[in-house]
Amino acid sequence: MARKTDHQLVLILDFGSQYAQLIARRVREFNCYSQIRPYTIGLDEIRRLAPAAVIFTGGPRSVYDRGAPLLPREYFDLGIPTLGICYGVQMATHVLGGRVEKARAREFGRTELKVKAAGCLFDGLRKRNTVVWMSHGDRLERLPKGFRVLAQTKDAPAAAVADEQRRFWGVQFHPEVSHTEQGRLFLRNFLKKCAGLKGDWTVKSFIEESVAGIRERVGSHRVVLGLSGGVDSAVAALLIHRAIGAQLECIFVDNGVLRRDEFKRVKDTFGKDFGPHLHAIDAADRFLKELAGVTDPEKKRKVIGRVFVEVFEEEARKLKGVKFLAQGTLYPDVIESVAAHGGPTAVIKSHHNVGGLPARMGLELLEPLRLLFKDEVRVLGRELGLPDGIVNRQPFPGPGLAVRILGEVTRERADVLRAADWIVVEEMKKSGWYDKLWQTFAVLLPVKTVGVMGDERTYENALVLRCVDSADGMTADWVRLPYELLATISNRIINEVRGVNRVVYDLTSKPPGTIEWE
Ligand code: XMP
Repeated sequence: MARKTDHQLVLILDFGSQYAQLIARRVREFNCYSQIRPYTIGLDEIRRLAPAAVIFTGGPRSVYDRGAPLLPREYFDLGIPTLGICYGVQMATHVLGGRVEKARAREFGRTELKVKAAGCLFDGLRKRNTVVWMSHGDRLERLPKGFRVLAQTKDAPAAAVADEQRRFWGVQFHPEVSHTEQGRLFLRNFLKKCAGLKGDWTVKSFIEESVAGIRERVGSHRVVLGLSGGVDSAVAALLIHRAIGAQLECIFVDNGVLRRDEFKRVKDTFGKDFGPHLHAIDAADRFLKELAGVTDPEKKRKVIGRVFVEVFEEEARKLKGVKFLAQGTLYPDVIESVAAHGGPTAVIKSHHNVGGLPARMGLELLEPLRLLFKDEVRVLGRELGLPDGIVNRQPFPGPGLAVRILGEVTRERADVLRAADWIVVEEMKKSGWYDKLWQTFAVLLPVKTVGVMGDERTYENALVLRCVDSADGMTADWVRLPYELLATISNRIINEVRGVNRVVYDLTSKPPGTIEWE
């Protein structure tokens, strides 16, 4: 991926760390632009990128493993300010002629760090002792010429090192994780004090540059964009609209499995500014007809994906002069990362929300958010005037409520789930929990159970409440909600939603479960 910005770059060289993205996000919190690249990119590419600073990530390997990921020694002659984290500092030590060995005692988790020597990395640290988070089995036994020890722990005599001449700093611990008490201070010190970065990456400057870039690329052509009701496509739409105004055509499709009032809300939010360029298509009947009788989760997803592309294409073909298809693809979807296990293979994920449509219609892709993380997209959305209700919205799956209606999807069952979903969201917001969690939602089961309401026997559907917390959707844990809140939600659903007489709470983390039920 080429560099598309003139900001000072912090290059994160990935050696297979599970924290590469976390490091990149932290760096951006200090207004420094960061990009993650695999360590294999080569010295020529590093020179071409001309980073203002480099961070080596940790990694699962040992420097003495056969095929361990190493940089050539010449890297260290480039004079780029560099921070090596965990494996990163071990690798630098090894390559520069020092010795790394298996530690007698492996260090995992919280450890006390004693700072021994002054230097830019620990500037502003009030106490000499601080808690850091360790995760390593190897330690630095002999330092290369020029290295000096800055700090140590009980089991690591060289837990932080520096070679100011080479402009290299290294830490055995992980400053990027929140368990390292002063981790943010150390990272900021490295960037601002050791490497001297200006911190020139701000949302305002991103907007100005993007608007200019979009105008130049699009020219007098038109752009079509599929709004989903979620944050990413909404922010992409506002940004592109700011650049090219009425040349942007937005298509929003009601697939019959949207949340309650979603169709109206999107029309209200965007209709005012976009006017006739917002095409809100009610295709609910068409989707529900195609979904009739389908119970297999994968088939449901395929049906919805296919019909969406059909509807979108029909509408897009009605528009004249369209040359671009815009998508709200984010940086995590385009990062080329080193697989943590099984060697340094490059894995590239790509969003294809509208399948093979760009190729079929001869459209070019326009992805103005592809350098941003989700939290940056939210800040950008606020800056562009997107209402809080959309900016803070929890993720919602592309196939909508269909993957939360187990068994056949019908309009009646979608209505039951919509009513329950409404109550869940309302109560979570009222109690202040909504904004703290990754997702909170209801799942309608195709299971009937016996109950008693008033003096009557009931035989109705069971419904699952699912509340999970997660950093990125890849792993998640179920949330320990207060019993009182669970009771309120359950009571309201059973009293107000016809067709549900039992509510259960899902106690499954991911893995082994997934977040959605289908
Ligand atoms: P799972 O169920 O795989 O979900 O643990 C992880 C996250 O992804 C969301 N999700 C989707 N998002 N299209 C999307 O845009 C989809 O088809 C889709 N399926 C799941 C899910 O809500 C969770 O946040």
